[in-house]
Amino acid sequence: MAKYEDLKDAVVIVTGSGRGIGRAIAEQFADQGAKIVITDINAETAAETAKEIAAKGVETHSAVCDVSKMDQVEALMQAVIDKWGKIDVLVNNAGITKDGMFLRMKPEQWQIVLDINLTGTYNCAYAAVAHMRKAKKGAIINISSIAAGGNAGQANYSASKAGVIGFTKAIGKELAPMGLRINAVAPGFIDTAMTDAIPDKIKETILANIPMRREGQPEDIAKAILFLASDQASYITGEVLNVNGGLGGL
Ligand SMILES: NC(=O)c1ccc[n+]([C@@H]2O[C@H](COP(=O)([O-])OP(=O)(O)OC[C@H]3O[C@@H](n4cnc5c(N)ncnc54)[C@H](O)[C@@H]3O)[C@@H](O)[C@H]2O)c1
Repeated sequence: MAKYEDLKDAVVIVTGSGRGIGRAIAEQFADQGAKIVITDINAETAAETAKEIAAKGVETHSAVCDVSKMDQVEALMQAVIDKWGKIDVLVNNAGITKDGMFLRMKPEQWQIVLDINLTGTYNCAYAAVAHMRKAKKGAIINISSIAAGGNAGQANYSASKAGVIGFTKAIGKELAPMGLRINAVAPGFIDTAMTDAIPDKIKETILANIPMRREGQPEDIAKAILFLASDQASYITGEVLNVNGGLGGL
């Protein structure tokens, strides 16, 4: 495993880190000796993950937070500042799918995906930057998706993840003079509960189209995020890193 000395003792917030990719990200930051904030809408998985990560011997903070609710997000950021006095890294990972063909897509199905995936990303970035800018240092990594390129049956999700890319590029430019770096990672097809829900027949077709002929693991995404959070990426901002086994770039 690569070692990033600057991530030791860094305060890192990972949203939606109760399971899946978020949990793998939290684990890898813990392996670097960072202080980890485990936060999820699901209290049970957040507590479980925090317990597992604390067993690695790093300091943790566990909190329930629905990223689509600004009051909860602001309370989370304040709690982290009260505890550790700074926020070095924010990973906007929390996200959901509510798939369906556009002609049958209900307004609620559209809205909740935009509220969590896109507005949730805005909420957390906004509340974290209020603190990061005082330190003139900080990195935010937003999780987009290959679906930002447009997936049939995912108009809501594709729009939300394309929005995340535009948002990343815009605030990457705005916040660079303040010493903050904002990047995105766009995963391809990753082995988590989110993709477990896809029927086997469709999964086979997806796999056959991946040049590396395998699905990605949550750890593959976490490795890319660690790099972008670290000083090794000190001249990279407003960028999208595709991690998808060769499916192509956004
Ligand atoms: N799995 C993939 O193939 C894949 C591909 C591209 C992008 N992504 C993105 O990666 C991220 C993680 O996906 P995953 O596969 O680990 O999914 P997952 O469903 O396993 O995990 C998502 C986590 O987010 C939490 N969450 C949901 N709504 C929330 C809210 N409002 N506030 C806070 N937490 C909330 C869930 O409780 C869960 O713990 C998502 O943004 C997803 O869109 C996943």
